[in-house]
Amino acid sequence: MARWSVRIDPAWSLEAWRDAARLALHRGVAPAELDWLQGQESSLLDAPALPPMRDADTTAADTPTYVSRAFVELAATCLCHRDPQRMALLYRMLWRIASGERGLLSIPTDPDVQRAMALAQAVRRDTHKMKAFVRFREVPGEQDAFIAWFEPDHHIVDRVAPFFARRFTGMRWAILTPARSVSWDGQALSFGPGGRQDDAPAEDAREELWRTYYANIFNPARLNTRMMQQEMPVRYWKHLPEASLLPTLVRDAGDRVQDMHDRGAHAPQRRIPARSIALRAPATANGDDLDALRTAAAGCRRCPLWEPATQTVFGEGPRDAQVMLVGEQPGDAEDLSGHPFVGPAGQLLDRALRELGIDRSTLYLTNAVKHFRFERRGKRRIHSKPQVTHINACRPWLLNEIEQVRPAVIACLGASAASAVFGAGFNLMENRGRWHALDDGTRAFATVHPAWVLRQPEGDARAAAYQLFVDDLRQLTGPQRAR
Ligand code: URA
Repeated sequence: MARWSVRIDPAWSLEAWRDAARLALHRGVAPAELDWLQGQESSLLDAPALPPMRDADTTAADTPTYVSRAFVELAATCLCHRDPQRMALLYRMLWRIASGERGLLSIPTDPDVQRAMALAQAVRRDTHKMKAFVRFREVPGEQDAFIAWFEPDHHIVDRVAPFFARRFTGMRWAILTPARSVSWDGQALSFGPGGRQDDAPAEDAREELWRTYYANIFNPARLNTRMMQQEMPVRYWKHLPEASLLPTLVRDAGDRVQDMHDRGAHAPQRRIPARSIALRAPATANGDDLDALRTAAAGCRRCPLWEPATQTVFGEGPRDAQVMLVGEQPGDAEDLSGHPFVGPAGQLLDRALRELGIDRSTLYLTNAVKHFRFERRGKRRIHSKPQVTHINACRPWLLNEIEQVRPAVIACLGASAASAVFGAGFNLMENRGRWHALDDGTRAFATVHPAWVLRQPEGDARAAAYQLFVDDLRQLTGPQRAR
């Protein structure tokens, strides 16, 4: 039996594997006759390299083998696995498909299919963990430059890098792993050899903020250590600043739940306090740093919305603004640009502010939920209302923004914003335009959302809705807004 070898470089490259597989198929080399090599490996049986194809080798009788998109995707994912047998496995599957087993992928009990699916699943899981657990640290002495250290199980750096480029477009960053590194200069990704953990900066000041924040939002009553370890396996803890808190938080959780229980028995909580609303977030150690809060929020994973979104859209405006406007969540334009209220709803808001003589640059604009929630329909991303769990998960960020900016007045745009500020039972239509005093003296009211105005039928109905919106916002110009 003749024996050949092919070398795949880089070892996770779909293109390299595909070229070699096509060549082998074209030359009729059966799976058992081929050694797949990667890196510096040499063929155990000294099999010579399969000679490349020359034009003259192609005859009119050659018909290319077409495979389904599902197979190509499966191959691209499996190739990122470290299993040395993955290339041979994929070639065996391709050989079988080319030999007439066209429906191979739809036989879930087939051992090759099962193995390929298991490899792909492990790569997807590793990818997910890298997206979730990479933590950037500031490079001392350089502005807006960050480095993270991460140890993935598989060859996933090239696969995950575009996600970080989209998510952290405005930063310069590098991710170092033992086998490969990637960096982003604001324009393009560059890949290089692996690094060492010492090449990444040691802990930076933001990590203390992140830990304080995490300690504040940790809910002992919802502690489920089994789930926690499944979601955040212990081997990733070394990447996470908050992980150093976990042993203590977990140990004390029982006492804290008991304490919450005891306090609850004496003072049952009303869902909507009528006038006086507890709003302030617990003070944080570095709590005066809105920028640090923004940076911490950029890595927020408190609910699943971060993953499909492009980036966290944090609030913007003067840090001593007198008026804060709270919207629902970023839309498509905000998600792509990273700035709140720049899409159609933002333009309507701008129009209303102009009419009222309010300078937008004096306002702090933010949202109850900081990631865009959407459904895909073809190429379009359709806005989808955030759920209570998303609003609750994001609430600590909003409370911290309020704590930092300390506005005299808050205007909530729409029901989601109102429920984030006033509590879940707030009825927008009953309370629209009415002032409420929050327990620290901040005055707040809710009005409709500008997107709601835009959803009204064109003509009288929309004009009336717009007028109502403007009339409510007019209160921002009146005497009530004074502190
Ligand atoms: N709608 C919002 O509530 N916020 C934005 O930032 C944009 C649209």
